[in-house]
Amino acid sequence: MVKEKIYILGIESSCDDTAASVLCDGKILSNVIASQSIHKAYGGVVPELASRAHQQNIIPVVDQALKEAGVSKTVLSAVAFTRGPGLMGSLLVGTSFAKSLAFSLKIPLIEVNHMQAHILAHFIEKSGYEKPKFPFLAMTVSGGHTQIVKVKDYFDMTVIGETIDDAVGEAFDKSGKLLGLGYPAGPEIDKRAKLGNPKAFHFTKPKVKGLNFSFSGLKTAILYFVKNKSIENPNFIENNINDICASIQYTIISILMDKLKLAVSQTGINRIAIGGGVSANSGLREALNKAQQKHGWTPYIPAFEYTTDNAAMIAIVGFLKYIKNDFTTQEITAQSRLKI
Ligand code: KG4
Ligand code: ZN
Repeated sequence: MVKEKIYILGIESSCDDTAASVLCDGKILSNVIASQSIHKAYGGVVPELASRAHQQNIIPVVDQALKEAGVSKTVLSAVAFTRGPGLMGSLLVGTSFAKSLAFSLKIPLIEVNHMQAHILAHFIEKSGYEKPKFPFLAMTVSGGHTQIVKVKDYFDMTVIGETIDDAVGEAFDKSGKLLGLGYPAGPEIDKRAKLGNPKAFHFTKPKVKGLNFSFSGLKTAILYFVKNKSIENPNFIENNINDICASIQYTIISILMDKLKLAVSQTGINRIAIGGGVSANSGLREALNKAQQKHGWTPYIPAFEYTTDNAAMIAIVGFLKYIKNDFTTQEITAQSRLKI
């Protein structure tokens, strides 16, 4: 008997990206994202506008994902969607759409935790990419989250450290805003950091015990630093922008690497997988590659398209849950504060 192929439609709408992806037996056939540029004008995500944009985008994005995958919706084995964590209005759009589609096609519905998905994105089949071996440590770094997670198996994860205030992506974005950079500022700081001196300016690292992080103090330190320097020289930012970006990035990466070193020494696990938007940062990627040479760590760095919010990561979790018959019902509701 020929084994039937498993097709999963993944839907992601937790923040400001409406995304859909079709996966067949662990391989991604399409990965479509509609990013919402409307938030740029406000320097951050406006929840009300995000949910409206999801409403507009969701059907065209799903249509496009099916088209690019070259399949009709009737071949789908299940629909997987992000249940949380995220913005409630945004989550409701993807959740309601996924429920209706699964209901009308009479196929199973699979709920996905967005933070688990950032980690399990490492299990998407990709030629030349070696998947992490269990157990490993996952560091998820994005605009909404900063966590270190001990991963013993696909669905056996424990959060061993997390931010007590701002997420690391916010540290990049808010610092960038102070410097007059656009939103999101992470990629721009990354670009400018390559041209600057990381030791030009010193910012004190927060003293948070254990594996937790804090980034709000750094933001305040940068605010006062820029204010004071601009009183002495009104063109201070303009004249030193690359050095400021390099110094901020250096400080942030060194905070992340310090905690990773502590996590490795506490757990004895030196396989490190990163995920989330900030894992696109070239300085962080370089620091991990250096740790491989210096400390013998094995870093797992995902392809760019699977780092920032995407639906391929939702579809892979859907696939992993499908093969163990882990389905949900039509009573499911979105959860903005869902834990791993
Ligand atoms: O995972 P993501 O797309 O969405 C959230 O779940 O938040 O992450 C977005 C965050 C933003 O804060 C953005 O500035 C940051 O990721 N980011 C970067 C880089 N690319 C994106 N931060 C630093 N360097 C980058 N290259
Ligand atoms: Zn995310």
